[in-house]
Amino acid sequence: MSSQKRIILVTGSNSGIGYDLVKFLASKGHIVYLAARNEAAGKEAQQKLKQEHNLQVKFVQLDITDLKSVQAAKDTIEKAEGKLDVLVNNAGISYMDQPQNASTVDISLIRKTFEPNFYGMIQTTQTFLPLLRKGSDPVILLNTTDMSSNTFQARPDSSIHTVAYNTSKAAANSYIIALAHELSAEGIRVNAVTPGFTTTKLNGYATGGKTTEQAAELLGEWALLGPEDKHKTRLFWSDKGQFPW
Ligand SMILES: NC(=O)c1ccc[n+]([C@@H]2O[C@H](COP(=O)([O-])OP(=O)(O)OC[C@H]3O[C@@H](n4cnc5c(N)ncnc54)[C@H](OP(=O)(O)O)[C@@H]3O)[C@@H](O)[C@H]2O)c1
Repeated sequence: MSSQKRIILVTGSNSGIGYDLVKFLASKGHIVYLAARNEAAGKEAQQKLKQEHNLQVKFVQLDITDLKSVQAAKDTIEKAEGKLDVLVNNAGISYMDQPQNASTVDISLIRKTFEPNFYGMIQTTQTFLPLLRKGSDPVILLNTTDMSSNTFQARPDSSIHTVAYNTSKAAANSYIIALAHELSAEGIRVNAVTPGFTTTKLNGYATGGKTTEQAAELLGEWALLGPEDKHKTRLFWSDKGQFPW
């Protein structure tokens, strides 16, 4: 794990795993940007970290589906820091409360889910890439899910297939693989990590999952790859080790 002070952006970090990831990273002394599409929710989360945990984090408004908002966030961080070391693509939605069977899922629901999970994630990554190129030992990390793994889903005993969510995350994984190949010569590490089932807003606070603190610890480890971890790229990782794409 990197001991250098890192400049880190976590998208969608006003709640859930992202919030606890910001907490984890800030508690280790890094400069962390808590990002939220809703400014009030983001500032409230920033305040909570200060009041409850005595942690100072920076806030930036960022709706990953709105290119203007993404560019404005990039400008803010560029002006303040001049670079970015770590981008965590954490923001996402699932619409798990709506029917997502393969044979009947509403096509508009698939489009709505792909908008942040795939297109938004790509435009955020592309926009921040020039800042990451100025960073030291840069890292791009995707918070993905076990359910995005085609190998995992093709098993006879696979878990529930929520088609809009799983396919959007599988497509995101595919983009991560392509990006990792492309950026490897520049030494930019690009990986995907699944925290595993975690009880959050995304799944209607379904019980029996991990805590967001547990999920954040695994992601934190992969966000903080150090210079000694140069070979750790194009990997899909879980709490049990390497995961099949
Ligand atoms: N929970 C799990 O079991 C699990 C397992 C594996 C992977 N993951 C992944 O973990 C990530 C975080 O989810 P979570 O479980 O922590 O749920 P969550 O609490 O609902 O967090 C999702 C975050 O993404 C934000 N977001 C949604 N659309 C956005 C947009 N267009 N622009 C910017 N931010 C946006 C949400 O903002 P709002 O508050 O404004 O909606 C929220 O802050 C997701 O990518 C998810 O796929 C979750």
